[in-house]
Amino acid sequence: MIDIQKIREDFPILHQNINGKPLVYFDNAATSQKPKVVIDAISAYYNTINSNIHRGVHTLSQKATDAYELSRQKIQHFINAQHSHEVIFTRGTTESINLVAAGFAQLLKKGDEVIISYLEHHSNIVPWQLACEKSGAMLKVIPINEKGELLMDVFEKLLSETTKIVAVNHISNSLGTINPIAEIIEKAHQFGAAVLIDGAQATPHLKVNVQELDCDFYCSSAHKMCGPTGVGFLYGKTEWLEKLPPYQGGGEMIATVTFEKTTYATLPHKFEAGTPNIEGGIVFATAIDYLNSIGLENIAAYEQELLRYGTEKLSQIEGIKFYGTAQHKTSVIAFNIGNIHPYDIGTIIDKLGIAVRTGHHCTQPIMDFYKIPGTIRASFAFYNTKEEIDLLIEALKKATIMLS
Ligand code: ALA
Repeated sequence: MIDIQKIREDFPILHQNINGKPLVYFDNAATSQKPKVVIDAISAYYNTINSNIHRGVHTLSQKATDAYELSRQKIQHFINAQHSHEVIFTRGTTESINLVAAGFAQLLKKGDEVIISYLEHHSNIVPWQLACEKSGAMLKVIPINEKGELLMDVFEKLLSETTKIVAVNHISNSLGTINPIAEIIEKAHQFGAAVLIDGAQATPHLKVNVQELDCDFYCSSAHKMCGPTGVGFLYGKTEWLEKLPPYQGGGEMIATVTFEKTTYATLPHKFEAGTPNIEGGIVFATAIDYLNSIGLENIAAYEQELLRYGTEKLSQIEGIKFYGTAQHKTSVIAFNIGNIHPYDIGTIIDKLGIAVRTGHHCTQPIMDFYKIPGTIRASFAFYNTKEEIDLLIEALKKATIMLS
């Protein structure tokens, strides 16, 4: 069970007025807020062990290296990867996908196919377009139904011996749909295709087990999980990470360098050129500890309660239309009211202290599918309350009156 008042005390940012009203933060799918333990861990790092990692013999460098590598193991256990070297630190989900897509650009050839879905964030579309342009491979897209669910029968027809990789999100950032990734992975593997899962919207909400899923790649970002921005991870099965070429060249990723030939470092360092976001990497572990202290199961159950309550309350608003009504979804509610532009509503309710995201949410194909310019998206986290949802409803009613 979640003690919501106690949890809210952990988040200093929530206790302030915005535009003279108490802040109601419903933009959690864009980025999560940070608990005090995470904020304190950032200054503790700079106050006590700041130094470069994997390089120095001196004590500070050793301490920072140990903390960084401990964080890698935390991530490994959080997603139940078999080895810590299968966890690569990146700048975030976008970089993780780009790393894999750039590698595949070198492995793919004309006649090969890559499958993505209509539900993808631009970060899981554009890198594959680039890889296909470079290699001559063809990009195929799994369509969706009105509820925002993948058409799995069409997916099965798209799969063939020429499919080399399937890249889909675990959860849609725009609609909250939880995709049947276990089934997708199993079906893709029957054709020998690799599978990459964009888990940016999943790891803050659900327990993920990469070995059970048997995915080849899985990625996410710390900032969606109560951690800092600018750091994330790519999980890859050892055999795939061995097969992929390095993404960037530089220090750390080499074994030996001469002008004639360079040999590469072993995993995970082969993919970690340059000085990384050391503080972010280390503090990622603090964020994981924090999420674990609440429990992913408790978080999921409470957020489902918020989703139910929010959907029911919002349904009472005249002229509301929901986008994304999948049977399995997380606490994301996307909607429009009448013909009012989402941006106008977002601007007015911001004046009432309420933060939501408006627009296409980096998923223009979904907006094209629904033939709309964008939506208002309220995305709830475990530190949100039903009272805050009531404030959203009140604000939306006021905005609708003003704009009608
Ligand atoms: N991908 C983030 C969102 O959905 C930024 O808002």
